[in-house]
Amino acid sequence: MTTNRTASPIGIFDSGVGGTSIWKEIIKRLPNEDTIYFADSSNAPYGEKSKEEIIAICIKNTQYLIDKGAKIIVVACNTATTNAIHILRDKFQIPFIGIEPAIKPAALATQTKAVGILATKGTLSSALFHHTTQKFAANITVVEQEGTGLVPLIEADKINSPELEQLLTKYLQPMMQHQIDYLVLGCSHYPYLIPKIKQLLGTTVTVIDSGFAVAKQTERILAEHHLQNPKTTAAKHLLISNGNLAILQKLTQDVALHQNVVFANQSAI
Ligand code: DGL
Repeated sequence: MTTNRTASPIGIFDSGVGGTSIWKEIIKRLPNEDTIYFADSSNAPYGEKSKEEIIAICIKNTQYLIDKGAKIIVVACNTATTNAIHILRDKFQIPFIGIEPAIKPAALATQTKAVGILATKGTLSSALFHHTTQKFAANITVVEQEGTGLVPLIEADKINSPELEQLLTKYLQPMMQHQIDYLVLGCSHYPYLIPKIKQLLGTTVTVIDSGFAVAKQTERILAEHHLQNPKTTAAKHLLISNGNLAILQKLTQDVALHQNVVFANQSAI
């Protein structure tokens, strides 16, 4: 990569609004960097799609962000990363950062030797997830749970609905029987459920996600490719949706209040 692209934005995409949990960590850690976030809500959920479909969608999203000038791409979706990042890296001449469930830190820290993982079907069935689990968690119990239905409810602005609480209860209660002391959130939408998850699991379980690690890795990759933006003026952020723009605005309003954030429908730009 060349140094003349330093002023270009970081491109970030997810199957919808969930990846904004990662975007928030990135802009906190890298305040000089402009970003373009693409919420591919019209294709959510990725987790129920075939590997081939996920790959095709990821190629399209990457090309879209490159066409918008992105200098690196953050795949802010575990399902997309675990199924497609190797293909993206082969196909495009641009650095990629992916997100994977934080199994390793949970496996290292557990005292009960049992950790839970809540992720999509697409992530839990991927070869990359199996490889990571084998490598770092072969000697502990990993209680896997598909979070089917959670992403559509988050996308539909139903985070505080009884349906969502019922689903979460159904998914998390069996984990407690295994005496997990760590719960890994393996989907970038799920950090928005942390208050509810903590209510259900109580204080004996530590909930971990990968947002901070992805932001650190983004910083490292930018430096490695000499792509850090040297500017000192406020960063600009463009958040694009091809679906429900209102939920994208709602989940990022805490940041949009004090940052330079523009929202757009994909069809309007
Ligand atoms: N945010 C995506 C992830 O991290 C959600 C996947 C989906 O759309 O099902 O896996």
